[in-house]
Amino acid sequence: MGQGLLSIGLTTLDISARPVDALPPDDTTALVDKIVLAPAGTAAGAALVAATLGVRTRLAGCVGDDAAGRLVRSELQAAGVDTGLLAELEGAPTSVTILPIKSSGQRPNLHAMGAGGHVEDSEALREAARAARFVHYAAVRATGLSDDAGAALLKDAKAAGAVVTCDLISPRASILGELKLILPHVDYFMPNASEARFLTGRDDLADAARTLLDWGAGACVFTDGAAGSVLADAAGLRRFPAHAIKPVDTTSCGDSYCAGFIAGLDRDWDVEDACRLGGAVSALVALGLGTTGALTDFAAAERLMRDGVLPDGATSGAAR
Ligand SMILES: Nc1ncnc2c1ncn2[C@@H]1O[C@H](COP(=O)(O)OP(=O)(O)OP(=O)(O)O)[C@@H](O)[C@H]1O
Ligand SMILES: [Mg+2]
Repeated sequence: MGQGLLSIGLTTLDISARPVDALPPDDTTALVDKIVLAPAGTAAGAALVAATLGVRTRLAGCVGDDAAGRLVRSELQAAGVDTGLLAELEGAPTSVTILPIKSSGQRPNLHAMGAGGHVEDSEALREAARAARFVHYAAVRATGLSDDAGAALLKDAKAAGAVVTCDLISPRASILGELKLILPHVDYFMPNASEARFLTGRDDLADAARTLLDWGAGACVFTDGAAGSVLADAAGLRRFPAHAIKPVDTTSCGDSYCAGFIAGLDRDWDVEDACRLGGAVSALVALGLGTTGALTDFAAAERLMRDGVLPDGATSGAAR
């Protein structure tokens, strides 16, 4: 069995400010409570949170040759992520998102595309996938890695014993061909509920899951915001309620759920407890600004999961 997590794909920098209910007019300045800069994206966000939870983590993705890229790399390294497979794409900026978070928690955002959707296909990447215990594939639609190369990489990783998870963001119908090549090599497909409905054209999550299982996924874990999450496999659907919290910023909740899920499996927990840990980790992330929010470490997440205890000592009203 391999060791640790290899997270592959989307790597960005999030600049989050809160609260921003309206932009200040003309040339004026408005004060906000806090601005946070953090690595983010379906691959890098999950990697940052997994490392914070104590999982040995590597990230394969891309930044640009700029200040944002250097910050992404150094913040990942500070959290313990191995960035040896994080390439620097010459001539491209790092992908950056500016998120003015409203008091209501709504999060309109401004995104500059850049190097973040690129993954370099290399023997070192394939070797890392074969050596990992978990491969989190967040590289659907990535440039640099052809559909066939992505599927072959996952097939090899699985043959070497890796557990493969997969997440994506804002899918378009044009990815269906690629997705169908990849899913037979995915143990847990982890989109949010609306992404699952969009991809399958099925409104009912049980029907959506059946379609995705037919396309080859071993099981599905659908996240669904404040409604919690759903595990769907051949045995049927199981629901996991979300913690009753007042969220500050729900950005990257899905990415952190995936990290918590993997951290649970990495401790040899069963899949249901891994889902519960995902729910606790993402609730802690929602309680603060930025990719890791109010998450400090694994112990805090386990305390919330088992006893419903929040960082300030209050109880979350347990899981709803
Ligand atoms: N308001 C909330 N209260 C409690 N838990 C929440 C809330 N919003 C999200 N979560 C937790 O986070 C998990 C993931 O959230 P969500 O389904 O919104 O992910 P997502 O849409 O993939 O987000 P992103 O792609 O921005 O990371 C949920 O399953 C739930 O456990
Ligand atoms: Mg998501």
